[in-house]
Amino acid sequence: MNVLITGGAGFIGSHLAKYLIKEKHSVTVIDNMTSYYDVKRKGDHIDQVKKLGDFTLHQFDLLNEEKTMKHFKEHSYDAVIHLAALPGVQYSLLNPHEYIDQDIKTTVNVLKASGEIGVSHFLFASSSSVYGNADNGPVKEEDANGKVCSPYAAAKYGAESFCHAYQSLYGYKLSILRFFTVYGPWGRPDMAIPLFIKKFLNDQPIEIFGREQSRDFSFIDDIVKGISLTLKRQSSQSEIFNLGSGTPVSLDELITILQEYFPEGKLFERPHRAGDVKHTWSNISKAQEMLGYTPDIGINEGIRRTVEWAKNYYR
Ligand SMILES: NC(=O)c1ccc[n+]([C@@H]2O[C@H](COP(=O)([O-])OP(=O)(O)OC[C@H]3O[C@@H](n4cnc5c(N)ncnc54)[C@H](O)[C@@H]3O)[C@@H](O)[C@H]2O)c1
Repeated sequence: MNVLITGGAGFIGSHLAKYLIKEKHSVTVIDNMTSYYDVKRKGDHIDQVKKLGDFTLHQFDLLNEEKTMKHFKEHSYDAVIHLAALPGVQYSLLNPHEYIDQDIKTTVNVLKASGEIGVSHFLFASSSSVYGNADNGPVKEEDANGKVCSPYAAAKYGAESFCHAYQSLYGYKLSILRFFTVYGPWGRPDMAIPLFIKKFLNDQPIEIFGREQSRDFSFIDDIVKGISLTLKRQSSQSEIFNLGSGTPVSLDELITILQEYFPEGKLFERPHRAGDVKHTWSNISKAQEMLGYTPDIGINEGIRRTVEWAKNYYR
């Protein structure tokens, strides 16, 4: 299949590109290497992808509607996996307008251009943040109601709505994937697990913002497998899928696991931060039934692999 991955130089995108190249798809990446985190890291991601085989990289800003349309008119794709976005909850509190640009306007440009050239399947990277606080057990796809807690989440929920609008205008198959806190080797450096591991490796204390928290941490290999299964799904219906582990891990449990590797690791406890939800927990039964998705890597093995990678990368 001819597959375009937007944001393919990022954490999830580069893992996905490697996986799809191995699966013998023809892979193209569009990424403008934003400086939300170290641009050198994105270069390292691309170097990893190059080792797996041939793929094409185009570097430009998808916020530019004209360039985006021109690119699509000059290329042909069977499926578009739209991962390009500005991530991060806390940054969105300080820079809400950037999220309207990077997470909504950019998505509209890619949706429209995909429709114009007759892309068959559009996959959109959404987020568990669209559920707001999930304090009452695992969330199902139909539980999202727009009552979110941060501008990032609002942008993702808004972008989902644009996906439905353009699906009805152009008729492509639409798959909205809501990822739950993804971690693993090459993990995004602003996220908790990579940040904690890097600090501990440098003998620095970590900061935690309220102890009463849990996350449905999802190992990157499982997420990438879930995306690949979605790419292969047969039905032409549009669908939303939760892609998570289905098993929440409390902050205390996470710290206990990390302290097995860093027994001297210290932490500072700060008050809960506005914008952050306290708990996330996915109900993954729809993805299990319709895609055959089963997460394989539990938190202990996932952290073991992530620490091993970080020790090699940062040494
Ligand atoms: N990592 C997670 O836990 C998680 C959870 C839920 C949802 N998501 C979503 O999954 C997607 C990928 O996340 P990630 O963690 O890999 O983030 P990432 O920041 O590593 O990757 C995003 C990539 O998109 C590129 N990009 C951003 N704006 C662009 C633009 N205008 N034009 C071209 N390229 C642009 C960036 O340079 C970056 O390489 C995002 O949409 C994110 O919101 C991630």
